[in-house]
Parts: sequence; structure tokens; C-alpha cells
Amino acid sequence: MTQQLFQSYRLNDTLTLTNKIVMAPLTRCMADDNLVPTTAMAEYYGRRAQAGLIISEAVIIRPDGQGYPNTPGLFTPEQIQGWRQVTDAVHANGGKIFAQLWHTGRVAHPHFYQQKTGYSDVFAPSAVAVEGTVPRMRELTYQTPTPVSAVQIEQLVNDYSQAAANAIDAGFDGVEIHGANGYLIDQFLHHDSNRREDEFGQTPENMARFPLAVVDAISQRIGADRTALRVSPGAYFNMGSDSRDRDVFDYFLAQLQARDLAYLHIGIFDDAMEFDYLGGTASAYVRQHYTKTLMGVGSYSAETGDQAIAEDKFDLLAIGRPFIANPDYVERVRSGEKLVDYSEEMLTTLV
Ligand code: FNR
Repeated sequence: MTQQLFQSYRLNDTLTLTNKIVMAPLTRCMADDNLVPTTAMAEYYGRRAQAGLIISEAVIIRPDGQGYPNTPGLFTPEQIQGWRQVTDAVHANGGKIFAQLWHTGRVAHPHFYQQKTGYSDVFAPSAVAVEGTVPRMRELTYQTPTPVSAVQIEQLVNDYSQAAANAIDAGFDGVEIHGANGYLIDQFLHHDSNRREDEFGQTPENMARFPLAVVDAISQRIGADRTALRVSPGAYFNMGSDSRDRDVFDYFLAQLQARDLAYLHIGIFDDAMEFDYLGGTASAYVRQHYTKTLMGVGSYSAETGDQAIAEDKFDLLAIGRPFIANPDYVERVRSGEKLVDYSEEMLTTLV
């Protein structure tokens, strides 16, 4: 029933995964107050090294990218050193790990960086606030962002690229650019959050310009074979829906198809969800426009994920919540042992 999952998978000349089960990126908010990964985090990731690949929880590239408490960073020497413990623990147990690089854009909150940096701007493509408050911190309402200037966009590209180089210094096998789930890169790709009238807005070519600049800068810095990207063509989180987004992603995916990334990953919580303007599910839409290595995710079990790979819906399966509940997820699936059910209370401890 899980024959596909236990085959090895060659991403490229540099990287071959021992199986097709990937640990999805899962924010845990457990870094220390300097956003340095802890020993407990190293142990947590080390316990999950049987996955063909681990994608780290999202890691902020610079202080103003932070939108949640105690999310780790990759911009100080201490943070790089902290991640070294994590990558060592994973490698010692025979695993591989990518860092997910993150800037939350308009989902950032100065509460997290104002004291340390002295500034309180929230940066995004346009001055369109996301509605609501920071999860579990109801007193923090999202503020209207300041549109980034062309010079600031160039700086962001440099900061992504530097964070990728820092990830390699920290021992990661590669990076996944977080271009999904309504955060900064995704904010450029959707009309709801991108109302710009310069060379970064309005047309598919313009709206994809910054995301592609990040992809290309990182590919040049650390190699395309170690660079991956997560995308959410369907607006479903921190984002309003707009049918014009379809043209943006048609163009963006064609551009990605012409590059040689390690893989492309869908960002979604439930891959059964259908989007009118995509003509179906996010993964089916991306598969039609992108023929290279695709990672599916979103409420799959090992069995339904295996089936989806057998049907060629995608090539690799990312598993999120079940990996929180079962550090030994891979072994349990292999031996047919029952899985522990996930529940939200599990987020309060790092097991
Ligand atoms: C997530 N997800 C997520 N996605 C991402 O790209 N970066 C992240 O840091 C996080 N953090 C995160 C935390 C928690 C607690 C949850 C539950 C989810 C989304 C995750 O990677 C995955 O797409 C979803 O959980 C759906 O997969 P499962 O859980 O149904 O296998």
C-alpha cells in the first residue's frame, strides 16, 4: 500500500533522497529570545531524520520578517551556530534537511522587532493590510504596510541570498524559498495584496519579477540544485481570492519550468480543496504547468499520498501534522504500526 513512498528519489546530481516521504515545514515558535535554535530543537529534528528530506520550520531572513513569537532566524552568527546543531543531529542520523527561508511581509508585526531594531515599518508590495490579529496574541492587530521601494526590493533580494548562503554555512543541504501561504513572496503574486503600478505590479511579468529575482539570486549563490520553492497558486490563507491570479501563475510556472530547481512544493492545508479559477486542485493545476519534480502535501495519509504518486499527481509527499504527532512516522508507516492522532495541544511541547 505504500510501495511508492519507500523508493529512493534522485532530485539531481547532487541530492538523492532515501525515500519519498518529506517532513513538511512546521513552525513551532520554540527558538530562544534571540531567535537561535535550541538543543531541544536539534533533538526534535534529529528524531525525524528517517524522512527522505526534512524541510525546517520557516526561518526568517531578517528581523522585519517576523510575524510570530520565537520563530528562528538565519541572520546572526549565533543563529547560524544554533542551526549547525540541528543539521549535525539530522546528518548523524542519516537524514537530509533544507531550511525554509521566510519573510512574512504584511503578516509581520513590529511587536517582534521594534525594540531590537528601532523601526516599526511593516513592508509589503502595497499598502493593503491583512485583516485580523496575530494568532494567540489578540492584542496585536495587523498594521497597514509600507509599500517597498525598488531599492528596498533589491535589498530584500540580497537578504534572501545572504540567508541562503548562511543556511549552507549552517550545514543545510539546501533551501526552500517560502513563496506560499500569503507571505511576502506570495503577496507579490496575488492581486489582492499587489496593487503596484511600477515594474512589480499589474501584469504577470511584473508581479513575478521579485519572486523570480529571489529564485535566481539564491540559485546563483548556492546552486539551483540546492534551491527549491513553495507556492500557493490558490489563495487560501492571509489572502483574498482574485481570478486574475491565474494568469500570473501561468506565467510564473512557465518561468520556473525553464529553470532547474531541486523541486517545487505546493503550499496548502488540504489538497482536496478546489479553486474555480485554477480549474481544480492546486496540485493538479501546477502539475499541468510544471513537469519537473513536484512535492504534494495537504491532509494526505501515507496510503492516499502513495496512491497520488502512483497516479503521477506529484513525485514526493510532504507530511505535516502527523509528523508532529509521530516522530517515528516513517518507521510506523513502514511497519504498518498505528499512528498517534495529531491534536493542537501537541504544539505546546517539542517532542
Ligand atoms: C504549518 N505549515 C507551514 N507551512 C510552511 O510553508 N511553513 C511553515 O512554517 C508552516 N508551519 C506550520 C505549522 C503548523 C503547526 C501547521 C499545522 C502547519 C503548513 C504545513 O507545511 C502543511 O502544508 C500543512 O500542515 C498540511 O499538511 P498536513 O499537516 O495535512 O500533512
